[in-house]
Amino acid sequence: MTTDPKVPGVLPKQLAFALIEKQEALFGGAVGGSKSEVLIQGATQWVDDYPVHSLLLRRTYKDLDKPGGLMFRAREWFSGTDAHWDGINYRWTFPSGATINFGYLEHEGDELKYQSSNYHYVGFDELTHFPEYQYLYMYSRMRKLGSSPVPLRLRSGTNPGGPGHEWVRKRFNLPDGPPAGSDRVFVQSFLHDNFFLEQEEYRKGLDQLGDVTRAQLLEGDWTASSTGGFFVAENFKTIGWDELPDVKEFVAIIRYWDFAATEPSEIYPDPDYTVGLKLGMIAHGAMDPALPDWYVLDVERFRGNPGTVENRIKAVAQRDGPKVVQWLEQERGSAGKHLIRNYNVNVLPDRTVRALYVTGTKEVRAAIAAARANEGRIYLVDGPWIPDFVSECAVFPLGSHDDQVDGLSNALISIDRERSYFDQGKVRRVSGLMKARTRRSERGAAMSFKGHV
Ligand SMILES: Nc1ncnc2c1ncn2[C@@H]1O[C@H](COP(=O)(O)OP(=O)(O)O)[C@@H](O)[C@H]1O
Ligand SMILES: [Mg+2]
Repeated sequence: MTTDPKVPGVLPKQLAFALIEKQEALFGGAVGGSKSEVLIQGATQWVDDYPVHSLLLRRTYKDLDKPGGLMFRAREWFSGTDAHWDGINYRWTFPSGATINFGYLEHEGDELKYQSSNYHYVGFDELTHFPEYQYLYMYSRMRKLGSSPVPLRLRSGTNPGGPGHEWVRKRFNLPDGPPAGSDRVFVQSFLHDNFFLEQEEYRKGLDQLGDVTRAQLLEGDWTASSTGGFFVAENFKTIGWDELPDVKEFVAIIRYWDFAATEPSEIYPDPDYTVGLKLGMIAHGAMDPALPDWYVLDVERFRGNPGTVENRIKAVAQRDGPKVVQWLEQERGSAGKHLIRNYNVNVLPDRTVRALYVTGTKEVRAAIAAARANEGRIYLVDGPWIPDFVSECAVFPLGSHDDQVDGLSNALISIDRERSYFDQGKVRRVSGLMKARTRRSERGAAMSFKGHV
């Protein structure tokens, strides 16, 4: 291994990063430190000599191909060389057989498209834009291929801030970086380390930003809080299924559905999600026996047209079983009533369905949910949905989505109602008549609830 710090055209920190032999490494922590560049550099290592395969990832396709984006930039690097571009699979192929592939993990499940065991090198650009489970999935699937002398490398670049700030900070022990001897490495690189850049221009632009964002982007400050001020991520209690209280202790278990029915498209690439949040309630909590605790048991989150949404809800309600009451968000007006009737009669005929007529603003409802969470009275029971859920809560109301936050707020309201049904012994059996009756009393309950918010 060479230790010569001078390679023409490569910054000293870029070189240091290229020489890391451990499997997991993170670069940067500040804007302009050449994070994106270093990830492409990594993908080019060994391409002349071995058929190495690399995958470079951004969260969305748009980010990948915008000016300065990884794919856009790779075009500048490799056009006019003997590498060949395949625009269908987003892949450069080199004469040695080596490939550099580009991908994005925009939606839950997109990571399944990429069998990371086929890659020697996976690079995540702007790591805090990804949920932790997608990263862990790629990590867990990387395997050494046969007798290849090329090491397996998972490399990332990121600034502080963004929905994944917390998990990235923890994983790499930022800003200090992982302790010596760890399997992970952090190389910090600032704007001033990048002497290829016109620094003053960059700084002037950054001076326009708010203090927190500026500190994050320029100084790589991981302590500058990027939370929205409602939920504190650490205050959710994450537990395993073996720590869950006995089902008999729950006074109610419901699933609340917050609807959206738009598929992502070119014009509307990032629409809202439909969210189904399953919540259990215990009357006498662990913190204060006079108060309840709540357990989030599952979060379903997906996008699609009304037909797809209907089918998914049907399948989830089947899985939940008849004891879990399905609460639906009821929108204003007759369309809202039709939707509820359709679910009640056609989609979920053998489930108890109730409607929640939502009142007040999202922020007010979220404030109530956040107060309970911050008191340590909301538990999250182990599942792959947790990282995305916690990230969204932590940045609310600043994040790009708030469907899960709204799902939680409204599930808490719904379960309060459910408990009052339960206490009154009204809900025993599911029958058409019972459904009609609860629908009627639901309207009354919704009115009386207005006073609470
Ligand atoms: N080794 C290099 N040689 C020439 N220019 C570089 C080099 N490394 C980075 N740059 C340039 O510096 C700028 C910032 O780098 P970039 O990778 O976009 O930073 P970041 O992703 O950290 O914001 C880009 O215009 C890039 O082309
Ligand atoms: Mg970049």
